[in-house]
Amino acid sequence: MIRKFSDRSEYLTKLAGQLATSALFVAMTIAPAYASESNSVDVKIETQQQGPTISRHIFGQFAEHLGRGIYEGVWVGPDSKIPNTRGIRNDVVNALKELRVPNIRWPGGCFADEYHWRKGIGPADKRPAGLNPNWGGVIEPNTFGTHEFMDLAQQVGAEAYLSVNVGSGTPQEASEWLEYMTTPQATALAQERAKNGHPAPYKVAFVGLGNESWGCGGSMTPDYYVSQMKIYSRYVRNFNDAVTTQKIAVGPDGADTSYTEAVMKAWQGHNWAWNIDGLSLHSYTVGQWPPSYKATGFGEDEYASLLKATLRMEELVRTHSQIMDRYDPEKKVALVVDEWGAWLAPTPGTNKDFLEQQNSQRDAIIAALNLNTFAKHAARVRMANIAQMVNVLQAMIFTDQDKMLLTPTYHVFHMYVPFQDATFVPVAFEAGTYKHGDVTLPRVDAIAARDQQKQLWVAVTNVDPSHASDVRLTLDTGRFTRASGQVLAAPKLDSVNTFAAPNTVSPKAITGKKQGNELVLSLPPASIAVVRVE
Ligand code: AHR
Repeated sequence: MIRKFSDRSEYLTKLAGQLATSALFVAMTIAPAYASESNSVDVKIETQQQGPTISRHIFGQFAEHLGRGIYEGVWVGPDSKIPNTRGIRNDVVNALKELRVPNIRWPGGCFADEYHWRKGIGPADKRPAGLNPNWGGVIEPNTFGTHEFMDLAQQVGAEAYLSVNVGSGTPQEASEWLEYMTTPQATALAQERAKNGHPAPYKVAFVGLGNESWGCGGSMTPDYYVSQMKIYSRYVRNFNDAVTTQKIAVGPDGADTSYTEAVMKAWQGHNWAWNIDGLSLHSYTVGQWPPSYKATGFGEDEYASLLKATLRMEELVRTHSQIMDRYDPEKKVALVVDEWGAWLAPTPGTNKDFLEQQNSQRDAIIAALNLNTFAKHAARVRMANIAQMVNVLQAMIFTDQDKMLLTPTYHVFHMYVPFQDATFVPVAFEAGTYKHGDVTLPRVDAIAARDQQKQLWVAVTNVDPSHASDVRLTLDTGRFTRASGQVLAAPKLDSVNTFAAPNTVSPKAITGKKQGNELVLSLPPASIAVVRVE
């Protein structure tokens, strides 16, 4: 059931209460078909050594005009029979509210560098239809534009993250977009905004200065992009004092460090006329290009090799952070992983340009491992956006006309809500190894954090698909009473939720067993647990 909470702390208290209560009264009934004997891992929680804040913005979402991501997934129009508020689906908004989505990146992606905002304002029946050349060449009706996006963000309770058009737009166009949205003064653009239904200035928390300018955003050399970035940074202004808009520059394409070097070198020498607050990193878990890993019907080979691919994120973050540290030792510029997630073969029978793919327990593990990486690098990685929010790539939510479905990835994001703006707490453990063929991976992964109410939370992932794992938690302070929370496991590695069987992969209660000074969590194979430790 979707419930409203007046503030974060009330929500977290309720969530903790729900988890604890359900843990007491609901037996854990997971018995995956592939389970066998268990391994044991000691995880020591170092509560005396607190780390940086894990920004809630690492749990950001990305909603591009792509396939059924916006149209149908979010926007059905005010006349639709599907329950909606001003055209935006109520079911999707309510599900997203449960995730406490901190920010939504829009309108792209590659789409952003061909987006002209003026086509998406004014009376819906007067908006010109255009094309979406990146994603199937379909008609872009422009019925979902600036006001509709800001309405979505407001309904969800998320900050707006706009990507301005650097590829095919002009600094003037981008500058006017921000003036239109943010000025409180009675300029012609503000009056037009008021005429279009929003007299008050909008709050735009984040602006992306282009998207993948090394690729679909204009194939710019790093130096050429840096020149553009300075111009856009200068002229794309926020006029609403109620918010400080953070500007995010295009950064690396995966392991390529040329943009990282060029942008950070320029930033080091920046002057009063321009600045940036973030550097974007895009890295998908693909396995091989073009994406051909099947989303379902795969075996342990594809499980192991895709997890190996996803763990590259750790190396990428480390590599780019090291470069950033050279130019910015105080970590003023954030590394913003604003496109990440699994990019798999399209669902058979769908338009391949719509990037629709099923979402399995493997995706849940991928989500948890990446979120752990971002949390471990919380001092530098202060924002991330999974691709994408609804119906596209590693989605949280699928829709089919009036029906909505939550994916395993959604459940991971929900279980991780307590980590939003929590303080990182180091954990010490010997991960052990999971070996399959020529792939060797850490068998478990773990993070811990203290939320704003001082509650301690631990997230543990058992990567091993054949062995359960007894995770033996110890506290450096030695005091423990209980650990309770949720575990996400599945009958098979490729188990998915479908409209016919929506709860095949869904969280169950888990409690730790007290053994002396230890609390033992028994994790099923290929599972994720998040528990509150007391
Ligand atoms: O998320 C799909 C696409 O992947 C985005 O449009 C683009 O930025 C990236 O290449």
